[in-house]
Amino acid sequence: MNPLPPTAPAPVAAPVPRTDAPVIDVAEERRRTAGAALTPHFNAAGAALPSHSVVSTVVDHLRLEEQRGGYEAAAERRDRLDDVYRSAATLVGATAAEIALFDSASTGLRVLFDALRPERGQRIVASSSTYVSHALHLMSTARERGVDLVVVPHDEHRRVDLAALETLLSDGIPSIVTIAHVPTSSGLVEPVERIGGIVKRYGGTYLLDATQSVGHLDVDVDTIGCDVMVTTGRKFLRAPRGTGFAYVRGSLLERLLPTAPDVRGARWTSVSTWDVDASARRFETWEGAIAARLGLGAALDETIQRGVAATEEWLVAAGRRLRAALSDIPGVTVADPDGTASAIVTFVIDGVASADAVVALARRGVRVVSVPATHGQWDLGDRGVPAVVRASPHVYNHDDDMTALLTGVAEISRGAGR
Ligand SMILES: Cc1ncc(COP(=O)(O)O)c(C=O)c1O
Repeated sequence: MNPLPPTAPAPVAAPVPRTDAPVIDVAEERRRTAGAALTPHFNAAGAALPSHSVVSTVVDHLRLEEQRGGYEAAAERRDRLDDVYRSAATLVGATAAEIALFDSASTGLRVLFDALRPERGQRIVASSSTYVSHALHLMSTARERGVDLVVVPHDEHRRVDLAALETLLSDGIPSIVTIAHVPTSSGLVEPVERIGGIVKRYGGTYLLDATQSVGHLDVDVDTIGCDVMVTTGRKFLRAPRGTGFAYVRGSLLERLLPTAPDVRGARWTSVSTWDVDASARRFETWEGAIAARLGLGAALDETIQRGVAATEEWLVAAGRRLRAALSDIPGVTVADPDGTASAIVTFVIDGVASADAVVALARRGVRVVSVPATHGQWDLGDRGVPAVVRASPHVYNHDDDMTALLTGVAEISRGAGR
């Protein structure tokens, strides 16, 4: 821990250029977001601040459950629940029948990866940007079922090396290619469309972990060419915790069965037979947090109304400004690959453990997180970086928030002895 001695002179924060993307009305976003006025919150990549209307949607439904009972309340809101699938489909360019709701991205990844039934003789090809829980699932599957697991080499920017991927897939071994669009451990953006082109050319199933990109970047499943896409609610979508959704391409859906059919997505038709729902709902479970799902629907609608392209442009510009300003602070090193085009900003402060920097910033009221190598051994571990500080803005962060973050980082860095 390196708190600044109280007598230290006030450091000069790096200048923050004004936001000049008029399509996002930051003042309006702040009015709609109770938490925005309370603290400079830079943790959209962890769990973003939800808007009033998302929170009211959840609370209203809980009140309805209080009055009617859970099943009766869900029946009253059936149309609105169906709308959640339509909104999710609209956002990612799918049809409602291709959408399944989950309680998290990890559940979606697990259920859908298992449904692909990887077996000996097949191969799992994963990006070095793979998220910890998914990587652990891939490794345990590989170990227990004798499936080959290959972490595809990366280029000098730590993106999937496309030539290496092509060479790998050209041997014809049936492969499941699983890629994190944007990882947890840096602002890297994988070349997901070009990966889609390669998987299509050589054959294979393309699973996209879009947990950090939906609500952040423009994610269109057809443009990308993925067969399966999974995301979570609470991050850049600003939905309640305990929500997530997945897309399964219609043509794949016809041959993909859940490994553990549930009464929600399957019908027990005789002593020893069952059939499954025609839609991606075949992968869902009966029980779910209906209030949170309705909140997800509200967050999806807000994202669509705000505009995906405008949001992406604003967030990428915010990430760029933050990186530029951080790299001007003595003792601070931005840890993202050069040219990173996302709002996930990672950095280290010389002589200050990332976890300590997070605590020191929290004392100043600024919220960021530390991402340790244990959350990404194929990335941070491979780079020999024990942990990074991660700051991830959203459309409710105004320039004063940026200044508070940069001032705090400058103070902490100065307190480390420079
Ligand atoms: C890239 C990525 N994938 C998957 C996940 C897991 O998401 P969830 O916590 O909703 O399961 C995360 C969580 O941080 C993530 O960053």
